[in-house]
Amino acid sequence: MKLGRLASLKKFNNPNILLPIPKHWQEKLTKRVENNSFRELKIFYGLTDFFSNDYLGIARDEVVTRMVNITLIGQKDALNGSTGSRLLSGNHIWARRCEYYLSEYYGGENSVLFNSGYDANIGIMSCIAERNDTIIYDELVHASIRDGIRLSMSRSFSFAHNNMEDLKKKLEQSTGQVFIVTESVFSMDGDEAPLKELMAIAKQYHAYVIVDEAHAVGLLGPAGSGMVKAEGLTEDVLIRIVTFGKGAGIHGAAAICNDDVKKYLVNFCRTFIYTTALPPNDCIAIMTAHEVMKEKDEERETLRKYISYFRKKISQSSLKLIEGNGPISAILFEGNSKVKDISNLLMAHGLGVLPVLSPTVPEGKERLRIILHSYNTQDEIDQLIELLLKHG
Ligand SMILES: Cc1ncc(COP(=O)(O)O)c(C=O)c1O
Repeated sequence: MKLGRLASLKKFNNPNILLPIPKHWQEKLTKRVENNSFRELKIFYGLTDFFSNDYLGIARDEVVTRMVNITLIGQKDALNGSTGSRLLSGNHIWARRCEYYLSEYYGGENSVLFNSGYDANIGIMSCIAERNDTIIYDELVHASIRDGIRLSMSRSFSFAHNNMEDLKKKLEQSTGQVFIVTESVFSMDGDEAPLKELMAIAKQYHAYVIVDEAHAVGLLGPAGSGMVKAEGLTEDVLIRIVTFGKGAGIHGAAAICNDDVKKYLVNFCRTFIYTTALPPNDCIAIMTAHEVMKEKDEERETLRKYISYFRKKISQSSLKLIEGNGPISAILFEGNSKVKDISNLLMAHGLGVLPVLSPTVPEGKERLRIILHSYNTQDEIDQLIELLLKHG
């Protein structure tokens, strides 16, 4: 046995702990250390932000907190918590107002609030299909979508990323009612789905389409209302999942859908039913953040300019940049050690750029995930480009 392995085993078998963790946990953790994929919680101070999802800076805007306080302090219905599930005591007036507000904002007939995008995806994907039905999903969809599909009793296939020919092949193999699931802007590669083409194919096969807009919110479409609205597909998509922890700078999520879909989710979606609802303060924060987001056209324009400037410079070099138009740029570096080294080097220069390691992405597809924001400066972006070109 190698010395490194002994040392790391010791680390996960602390003799001072009264209740040692199970042996197979120790082994799995040790393996993570050995293949350089061990995850640890860190707090990053004072780094230039090239890693948060706060694309437009709304997480930093005090007006959201102030509005929550102004609205709730002294009000009779100003409970700190929602006190229960939406189907029990948790259906307060702010949740109703918020759902009405969101359906207007995103151009849907109705909406259903969820505590997070993860919750929304788990609940929705696990309740939409029956045993003989089929869910077909892009191979690069977020873990929450995959986890939800795994909980479903239905058949499921992935199709090659953004590959419409492969989607058609999978549709040919499908049974029962078919649901196609994709993201409008992909969280890992930062590229976009060909939504119009996908929708045309779905119609041919009488399949429903569900789109996760987590990374389009705030950036694409009128007032950042997403790609589905921008492409004029609001009537065609069965469910849009919009999340508020990224471009909207706060927390929570919603399904944008029609009245009947809402009735179904309220009755059958377990992550909606069996959880304490978002409290009034979160609902007010969600509405206020959207009011702020509506006014961010200038910031969206600045960000677009930064993105095309950065992408142009990087794509002229030998670095392996995944194509796309969004604020997330993925640059591939093979192997966890390589990508960690380059991230550490950038961090040492004060630039917050994080690596995405395998097994989060497949081996050989490890990458730096660089996120641009409207509040980055031209100097910061130039420094990042210079270091990447020199050391990448
Ligand atoms: C595409 C996508 N969907 C859903 C989620 C989960 O959203 P939330 O962070 O609100 O749980 C994420 C978060 O990373 C995501 O990237």
